[in-house]
Amino acid sequence: MSRYFENELIEQIKDANDIVSVVSEHVALKKKGKNYWGCCPFHNEKTPSFSVAPDKGFYYCFGCHASGNAIKFLMELEGITFVEALERLANRANIPLPEAKLSPQVKAREERRKKLYEACELAASFFHNCLVKTSIGKPGLDYLKQRGLTTETIEKFKLGFAPDAWDRLYKSFTERGIEESILLELNLIRKNDKGQVYDFFRNRIMFPIMDGKGRVVAFGGRVMDDSTPKYLNSPESQIFEKGKLLFAFDKAYKTIREKKQAILVEGYMDVISAHNVGLTNVVASLGTAYTRDHGHVLMRQAEEIILAYDMDGAGRQAATRAIELLQNTDFKVRVLAMPDGKDPDDYIRNHGPVAFERLVTDAVKPLDYLLSESLIKHDTNIPEGKQAVLEEVFPFIGNIQNQTVRDDALKALALPLWLDNSTIYRYFRNYTKRGNIEIVNEAVPTVNTTANGDEDMLVALAINDSQVLEEVVKYLPLEDFQNISYRGIIEKIYTLFTDTGNIQGESIAEVLTPEEYEVYTRLMMFEVNEAVPVLIRKIRLHSLREQYKAHSIMADQLKRAGDSAFISELHKCQEIQSLIREWSK
Ligand code: CTP
Ligand code: MN
Repeated sequence: MSRYFENELIEQIKDANDIVSVVSEHVALKKKGKNYWGCCPFHNEKTPSFSVAPDKGFYYCFGCHASGNAIKFLMELEGITFVEALERLANRANIPLPEAKLSPQVKAREERRKKLYEACELAASFFHNCLVKTSIGKPGLDYLKQRGLTTETIEKFKLGFAPDAWDRLYKSFTERGIEESILLELNLIRKNDKGQVYDFFRNRIMFPIMDGKGRVVAFGGRVMDDSTPKYLNSPESQIFEKGKLLFAFDKAYKTIREKKQAILVEGYMDVISAHNVGLTNVVASLGTAYTRDHGHVLMRQAEEIILAYDMDGAGRQAATRAIELLQNTDFKVRVLAMPDGKDPDDYIRNHGPVAFERLVTDAVKPLDYLLSESLIKHDTNIPEGKQAVLEEVFPFIGNIQNQTVRDDALKALALPLWLDNSTIYRYFRNYTKRGNIEIVNEAVPTVNTTANGDEDMLVALAINDSQVLEEVVKYLPLEDFQNISYRGIIEKIYTLFTDTGNIQGESIAEVLTPEEYEVYTRLMMFEVNEAVPVLIRKIRLHSLREQYKAHSIMADQLKRAGDSAFISELHKCQEIQSLIREWSK
């Protein structure tokens, strides 16, 4: 809205609103010296670093560097426009604002928007009254009650019912003098080829969609049986931009700000069901995927976004897409999984709010989610399966900007895929350079760079000393070596030893592949002063911990998929844990 105000007036409004009192309405302030201090409303903190200078009319946060005057404070805090903030402050100080100087076109558009809002509001009341005050709405009310909604929830969301008739809304609205063109633009009515007008929503439960300010801007309408389409939705209009709006944000933003956390679900009923039991930081993107604009809505309100999408194909796809969009933003992201039940509404109704909150606590980081999704889909015993997993997680890892985090992510792939770190790095380099991953025959291990100093040292000792070699074979399963070529080297030299009693000599070059031989000669150059039992123990423990991680990811994944095999994975976790305890003694 291009409203124009004189600078003088803006200054007058600012002067009339003491910044300390404006901020105090939202933040508890204490005077210290000339300035006032409090906990910053723009980031999460326990000790005050947010200061307000009354003489200058400014605020500044030493933590997150948010700064500005009273107008900016309101804009940022409430997500409102400059003009809206100015109006707010003018009202506060009882300063009348002059009629804005608007061009006729702008004025006409504003008037039209106003009519659209009014018609939406009226339609919401119409549907709501049908639901709660008339016998027409009884099937709807029965349906919602049977889905567990309280009267308060029905009121809070202003749920409604569209009568099972062709033109009840149309007639009632035109009688009140509401223009047909407004109803058409909102798609509350439609016109057929013969010019006959009919109500768009009929015999449906009505979900009014409010914008961030709580104004009704659109509707979703649900059938009460299994007929299709399950939902009809208002199309976009001058006042309704789907991708910018989060369902129930107007009701959730206070809790979101308090908890610094927003839970994102897919459906109207998921949101309503959550609010119905007191989980009030839940919002939904409207049948569309998460967009960057949704992020703007949540920015400065939430630090963390929990994705609680349906456990079906579409939901999983949506979660993956959302993870992509949220990567490298300031949001922390975690993904929640419903062990049974296909969506949050089901889960909450079956298990209650406390159980759902536990799922929120247990929600996993995006990479763990993507990896477990991928591991369950592919058979990682074969190279093609490993390749498929890598192809699915590399785009995510490739986008990680922080190198340490990226390295950790790559390393996390080693154990579940049974590949050594250097192989994974090589695949990753191929992927980033050429965008593809070629399958290599893993029977031929490639030359490895030193990924693990302990392994280097132990193998260097073992190839020089048959006693060490025997100890290694006795205590360490070959798979404990993260470096795959070490597995080959140890196995082959040990076979040579049991066959011939020798561990050195010319035959080494014959039993090892050229790549292994190169690694072997490099290791021969090593001087090692570390004690063998210490090295064995370190390598064993490292491997056990990695295995533990992989099995718990798998258990989690199976549990989510409702596969009872997760129990045997949990048993494995327990076994590994007791081994870890033993080896730690
Ligand atoms: N949706 C839609 N049109 C459809 C199906 C779904 O617009 N034909 C949107 C709605 O916003 C819906 C969301 O996608 O809320 C999620 O769809 P779904 O999981 O099928 O519905 P639920 O919200 O779970 O509804 P219910 O529990 O009542 O079946
Ligand atoms: Mn549902």
